[in-house]
Amino acid sequence: MDQLENLLQEVASQLSKTGDDTLLQKVKKCEQIVKNQSTGVLSKFNLAGKIALVTGGGQGIGEGFAVALAEAGCKVAVADFFLDRAEKVAAKIKEKVGVPSIPIKVDVSKKSEVEAMVKTVIDTWGDLHIACNNAGIVMHSNSEETSENEWGRTMDVNLTGVFYCCQAEAQHMLKKGYGKIINTASMSATIVNHPQRQVAYNTSKAGVVHMSKSLATEWADRGVRVNCISPLVKIVLN
Ligand SMILES: NC(=O)c1ccc[n+]([C@@H]2O[C@H](COP(=O)([O-])OP(=O)(O)OC[C@H]3O[C@@H](n4cnc5c(N)ncnc54)[C@H](O)[C@@H]3O)[C@@H](O)[C@H]2O)c1
Repeated sequence: MDQLENLLQEVASQLSKTGDDTLLQKVKKCEQIVKNQSTGVLSKFNLAGKIALVTGGGQGIGEGFAVALAEAGCKVAVADFFLDRAEKVAAKIKEKVGVPSIPIKVDVSKKSEVEAMVKTVIDTWGDLHIACNNAGIVMHSNSEETSENEWGRTMDVNLTGVFYCCQAEAQHMLKKGYGKIINTASMSATIVNHPQRQVAYNTSKAGVVHMSKSLATEWADRGVRVNCISPLVKIVLN
């Protein structure tokens, strides 16, 4: 924004020498609009200087989070189980949005990998302000046949993984007295979609909602806010 303001000032100064008053007035109007954006209410949504981390950032909703945070001015670490996906999104952010971005390989169900992910962000940029714990998986089966693997892996990634992330991120954020954590739950945390057979998923996401409430009340007075979002599944009716 500063760059744009400076550029417009330069153009206005050159125009004032040419005597083209109509164009000069237009440039001055642009200057005012830019000024309003950097001091007005929209400036409160400007995240320039902030450092963000998004898990499951390699595609889908996580990619959307990562790009949006970058567009708002954050440096963004894109973490994913598949490094090539994270690399692609980080490269897109650097090229199209023009802010620093790094890819990180992580399996959020592994505590040591989650700790290493947070350490990488802090070692690279010195801080961590915003974390979107978004990585999640879904599998389907009739509940009477749901396997130990389906139940276990879903809980490990969707519930325990989100907890490991919150914990590792908060250990840094609480020391600094500042942090914003946003966990991705689901509409399936509170309602049961039919005909999807996904008892493990629904249960894990209900856990994410209550975990987020528990952490929010525990850490709020130390400067760390925890929220969660519950995206809707797009249902197409024939
Ligand atoms: N898409 C929807 O309709 C919808 C609705 C409600 C909630 N959600 C939730 O939103 C989140 C993102 O959904 P999406 O549709 O973008 O999913 P997606 O499958 O398109 O993307 C998820 C990303 O997470 C990564 N991932 C999976 N397991 C991981 C692990 N163990 N460690 C690190 N990364 C891992 C994947 O590689 C993938 O890139 C999920 O938590 C999902 O449950 C999605």
